[in-house]
Amino acid sequence: MSMLERIEDLKNKSADFKIESKEMLENFRLKFLSKKGEINDLFESFKQVAGEEKREIGKQLNVLRQSIEAKFNESKEKFSSEKKFPADAADLSLPTNANTIGSLHPISLVKNSIINIFEKIGFDVEYGPEIEDDWHNFTALNFGENHPARDMQDTFFVEKEPRGNFALRTHTSSVQVRLMETVKPPIRALMPGRVYRNEDVSARSNCFFHQIEGLYIDENVSFSDLKQTLYYFVSQFFGEREIRFRPSYFPFTEPSAEMDIYLGMETEQDSRLTKGTGWLEILGCGMVDPSVLKNCGIDPDKYSGFAFGMGIDRIAMLKYGIKDIRQMFENDIRFLEQF
Ligand code: PHE
Repeated sequence: MSMLERIEDLKNKSADFKIESKEMLENFRLKFLSKKGEINDLFESFKQVAGEEKREIGKQLNVLRQSIEAKFNESKEKFSSEKKFPADAADLSLPTNANTIGSLHPISLVKNSIINIFEKIGFDVEYGPEIEDDWHNFTALNFGENHPARDMQDTFFVEKEPRGNFALRTHTSSVQVRLMETVKPPIRALMPGRVYRNEDVSARSNCFFHQIEGLYIDENVSFSDLKQTLYYFVSQFFGEREIRFRPSYFPFTEPSAEMDIYLGMETEQDSRLTKGTGWLEILGCGMVDPSVLKNCGIDPDKYSGFAFGMGIDRIAMLKYGIKDIRQMFENDIRFLEQF
């Protein structure tokens, strides 16, 4: 073959060579471009070419080498760019999004701080079921079958008429009963939980809310222990504030009282919350009625005790200035992330 024929031949061979993988690319390089490759062979032979042909053959040889190099570089780029991520892939070199850390719900915050305060004076935390039977929610707590106080708490019954035995608990006092039935005094417990009442839903009241109840049963527990315990609680939770006890009625405590704290009327909100009196009702309380002790198998001649219960939602609204109780359960992140 003449030099020109060999050049033509190599031109065709290199053009036909398919490069479809990195391996083929390397084979291409070895075959045509390496030291022992065919281009070099040709350049070796070129040394023998006679003077008058040198110009033309040298030119063609250079053109061929450039086209083979161009093909090589083009494929090389293709395979090295294939290694990169596709254009729409995540850019792993970007800084990460700031972690958004959730926060506790205002109800949990208030509940936890109440628990912390009472834990310091020896109260345990106890829980009970939200679907409760008549005995634990009413009967054991002295709500006789036709007791008018049953109407004070609009109950959601689980079964329809004729009314079955089960209802959504209307207060956490049911947990008192469960505890007294199973644990021997002394009992010192806090019982937080969700309760349900069939009330009109408004900014001030919801058909479910949260209570936290306290119970202390031992020998010689008196009303002054109750008062002192609540004074301690108020001073820890609200700071030094005036409080007052008003006589009240609950079927399961005797005597019963409601405790108010003095907010004053300096701000418009305070006078609205206190309906122009400066006083805000915070909780109900009283000495556990001896017949309730008896219902739960505790000897009322030996033991006495007090109970108190408060609404967590109301306190959370007071503490954080929340104007509408419903906001707390709409799961709007803009509301919740403020706490
Ligand atoms: N269970 C009462 C209520 O829901 C509150 C209360 C608890 C009162 C304990 C006295 C003692 O209204």
